Amino acid sequence: MKTVLLTGAAGGVAGMIRPLLREAFDRVVLSDIREVADVADGEEFRPAQLFDPAACARICEGVDGIIHLGGFSVEGDWATINAANIAGCYNLFEAARQAGVGRMVFASSNHAVGFYRRTRRIDTERRTRPDGLYGLSKAFGEALGSLYADKHGMRVMSIRIGNVGDMPLDERRLAIWIHPEDLVQLCRIGLEHPDLHCEIVYGASDNDRAWWDNHVAYGLGYAPKHRSEDHVQHALAEQAKLEHDPVGDLFQGGSFTSNGFAGDLDRL
Ligand SMILES: NC(=O)c1ccc[n+]([C@@H]2O[C@H](COP(=O)([O-])OP(=O)(O)OC[C@H]3O[C@@H](n4cnc5c(N)ncnc54)[C@H](O)[C@@H]3O)[C@@H](O)[C@H]2O)c1
Repeated sequence: MKTVLLTGAAGGVAGMIRPLLREAFDRVVLSDIREVADVADGEEFRPAQLFDPAACARICEGVDGIIHLGGFSVEGDWATINAANIAGCYNLFEAARQAGVGRMVFASSNHAVGFYRRTRRIDTERRTRPDGLYGLSKAFGEALGSLYADKHGMRVMSIRIGNVGDMPLDERRLAIWIHPEDLVQLCRIGLEHPDLHCEIVYGASDNDRAWWDNHVAYGLGYAPKHRSEDHVQHALAEQAKLEHDPVGDLFQGGSFTSNGFAGDLDRL
């Protein structure tokens, strides 16, 4: 794996992992609709709107593998989610296939399964339970990865990312947090593991309070270095400043589940 394409390169997560990717790979092609200002040695910037298939084709040229972070990263209206995360994701997978790119790491999200209760421990075999259009688009991306692996021989890893940062910021994130170094470790497994076909893993560090059974990731050699429990006092102090959310506090997706909620709690 020499040249890796990083979409969403002007975004928050990309900013955290770019230095680590530069250490791991000969060349990192950065792409975004927004300009990436601080392009470093070993990096190259190629602007692209993911909604544009021709732009997706340009960014895939000469690339060995892709880390696909680009897209609308919070809840949004259908037109926005559809353009960036549904059509955009399809365009990128299809451009990658046509360019002969063999590997794709897709940034999925905990919001693909946000409507599981926090009392449940789930693996990645259970059905998706999106908590909004954003989560739905992530479930779509996971299914797209499955199609491109089975039908076209691409090797695909979808990472259901919890929350990326230097430390967990509240109680929910004690369960779902991932440190950037651990995320890069998962990305490298997706790009380099010789036996990978198509897997969905959870993007979480070594969290005692995890709601997720991440045995698929561990089976592929994942060995997270960071523990959310090391930051428990800070996270609980921050939690104490937050208002109780009678719906969101029940579910893994938090406030994404209470946003516009009109369901029947007794059936969920
Ligand atoms: N931040 C987290 O903790 C977290 C948690 C779960 C999943 N994720 C996923 O990881 C990825 C990165 O998250 P982030 O926090 O860095 O998000 P971000 O919003 O900071 O970055 C996303 C980037 O994608 C670009 N983008 C949006 N629409 C585009 C389009 N149509 N064409 C080209 N580029 C486009 C934006 O310009 C932005 O720079 C996203 O896919 C997000 O859904 C992030």
